[in-house]
Amino acid sequence: MSTPESRPPVMERYARHVLVCTGGFCSAERRGRAIYSRLAQLLQREDLLFGPRRVKRSEAPCLGVCAGGPILAVYPEGTWYGGVTEALLERIVVEHLKGGQEIRDAVFHRLGGAGGP
Ligand code: FES
Repeated sequence: MSTPESRPPVMERYARHVLVCTGGFCSAERRGRAIYSRLAQLLQREDLLFGPRRVKRSEAPCLGVCAGGPILAVYPEGTWYGGVTEALLERIVVEHLKGGQEIRDAVFHRLGGAGGP
């Protein structure tokens, strides 16, 4: 009999992966939890849950920054945003995840070590 552990993993294609910190060190009120929930709604509204532009989302207990949160990272670009409010999240979804344009003035780090804007 097949068990979940005995079956090979399968992943549908996706275009981007968003990591959201829901921990309490970068945001005292753990506002990342609300951001993570709102992200699901926005991805659905913007038709980014299925098809070639599919965006996966994952929450993390800590992304190793621990200041200036909530912290959100977009891959494969490796673009890191800090201080993510609901308004900024909406811009990230519409302009970056859907439109392909970073919100440059909200970026504090890029893959490879390059800093903000
Ligand atoms: S708790 Fe959010 S980055 Fe560490």
